[in-house]
Amino acid sequence: MENLQIKTFAQYKKAYKKSVKDPETFWEEIANTFTWHKKWDRTLEWDFRKPEVKWFEGGKLNITENCLDRHLEKLGNKTAIIWEPNDPDEESRYISYRQLFVKVSHFANVLKNNGIKKGDKVCIYMPMIPELAIAMLACARIGAVHSIVFAGFSSAAIARRINDSECKMLITANEVYRGSKKVNLKEICDKALEDTPSVESVIVYRRTVEPTPMKEGRDRFWFDELQKVDKDCPAEVMDAEDMLFILYTSGSTGKPKGMVHTTGGYMVGTTYTFQNVFQLEKNDVYWCTADIGWITGHSYIIYGPLAAGATTVMFEGIPSYPDYGRFWEICEKLKVTHFYTAPTAIRSLAKQPLKFVEKHDLSSLKVLGSVGEPINEEAWHWYNDNIGKGNCPVVDTWWQTETGAIMISPLAGITPTRPTFATLPLPGVQPALMDDNGEEITNLNEKAEGRLAIKFPWPSIARTIYGDHQRYKEVYFSTYENKYFTGDGSYRDATGNYRITGRVDDIVIVSGHNLGTATIENAIDEHEGVVESAVVGYPHDVKGNALYAFVILYDQTEPSDQLRKEIRDLVSSTVGPIAKPEKIQFVKSLPKTRSGKIMRRILRKIASNDTSNLGDTSTLLNPEVVDDIIGGAVITK
Ligand code: PRX
Repeated sequence: MENLQIKTFAQYKKAYKKSVKDPETFWEEIANTFTWHKKWDRTLEWDFRKPEVKWFEGGKLNITENCLDRHLEKLGNKTAIIWEPNDPDEESRYISYRQLFVKVSHFANVLKNNGIKKGDKVCIYMPMIPELAIAMLACARIGAVHSIVFAGFSSAAIARRINDSECKMLITANEVYRGSKKVNLKEICDKALEDTPSVESVIVYRRTVEPTPMKEGRDRFWFDELQKVDKDCPAEVMDAEDMLFILYTSGSTGKPKGMVHTTGGYMVGTTYTFQNVFQLEKNDVYWCTADIGWITGHSYIIYGPLAAGATTVMFEGIPSYPDYGRFWEICEKLKVTHFYTAPTAIRSLAKQPLKFVEKHDLSSLKVLGSVGEPINEEAWHWYNDNIGKGNCPVVDTWWQTETGAIMISPLAGITPTRPTFATLPLPGVQPALMDDNGEEITNLNEKAEGRLAIKFPWPSIARTIYGDHQRYKEVYFSTYENKYFTGDGSYRDATGNYRITGRVDDIVIVSGHNLGTATIENAIDEHEGVVESAVVGYPHDVKGNALYAFVILYDQTEPSDQLRKEIRDLVSSTVGPIAKPEKIQFVKSLPKTRSGKIMRRILRKIASNDTSNLGDTSTLLNPEVVDDIIGGAVITK
């Protein structure tokens, strides 16, 4: 790929132009730099109206051969993964490409020995330990489809995801360390498994020495299983369009969407963007602080970096343990060159005294990255000044679970940056800014604001929502004719730089976590004292957004702080602790349109304490409730 690496802004412009004029040739050249068993028959087939997208169909490959086998000759002894434990006194683990290759092949045989075959779905619910990476790559090695569920989700959320894709196996760990706490994952899984008929076996990695109750005939320990199989596992030959993984993301309805990513295009897209956005050099140490349970971890801790032959850091812990200097201590210790994190982490660390940063030598850093939500100006400058010391380009990368790979971002050291702007589309990405009438705003030389769509397919786009192609069509391809709709609002300056302004649908990003308000409302409504609820986001200076729940109670239910606690606990156990509403207001009714829809726009304004101009309320069926709600609002500022 080296000759395709962009090194100057002029090369970027040239590559971009070519990618628009002749996308197929552009991506073919990149795809040709990977290892294929057989070349593809057709480069691209697409129709956003159906919708259908296929890249490199007929091409045969295995992504793990591209992440592991092909590096063995030249990079076999290079460190693939550096693992940094939660406890700074526990030893870091360095895993070379050769060792990772052996571990993945060995564990792949465990999967086979437990009846997992090509096409079977495997749920992985694990902490940030190397075995999580090994488990996911082992699935890919034998053509099984991994569905990783973030290990902060509740039993009910795991069960819902397992059942949606009928996973045959669950891989987990007995416990997880998270700062000064220990969480029993196996217990959470056991509860989930009470209601998941498709799961035949459970593999448990022992992260701690605590006794772990095991269910006879179903549960097996990771190490015991390894003893039963050999270490050699040839890779399953996959079609480029075979499913690689399912990853659930929140939607505007209560049901999570299982985004389906396939093999060839995803590999090409993540690797190309990884190399060009971050501009890694041979001996660099790259650290993305995301959890592998999210798309950022899939694409930019595992697949992209490993396919590119990079050294990637995995961190088990949290930024505040044992103190707020932990990230910077790790940067110093591992001589991290590329550091990629989320604005919410930056904002919470920026609130701490600077001594936590100053006591560490950060001179190894070359590039800083941001992802997951808009980065505000203050956080951008704090990051640039105090972490990058003004010497490290900040790449603000905009993308989504659905896009698989970075879409709009500066290329480090190449694209001129502008605070809070994700700047320019990467080669192969054709954004369209849409106005209120659904027309594209085509003049790139005038600033404009609208909604962001994409008008041409890129290789790593999700192909469908698992089991619900109709929903895929409705959510992404029905808003604008023949275009993919992102759900984000965006501003474009007069030089074509994009700033993402936030979601325009019923998804709220809290601390970088994408949450569907409908899912939370469903959870609240399950409380026996609750008639109905509406959840909206409001600006929060650390979390980006926080949640505000308006709740209608039955007449006989007494509003109280105890009830607020019960509601929060209910949300925590059905969705996960991250989804707990910060504020809960009990109301008599909710503002509704004549067709019965809750007018969330008004609730958002009330939650943000911005009630001077509520806009047009004439279509409300019950305008009088607005003043009542304002009168009783839990003031947020
Ligand atoms: O609203 C955008 C926001 O995160 C959403 C996607 O969330 P998710 O699928 O969880 O993936 C997050 C990691 C890629 C987007 O629709 N978002 C992501 N990156 C940025 C962003 N908003 C502003 N600036 C970004 N750099």
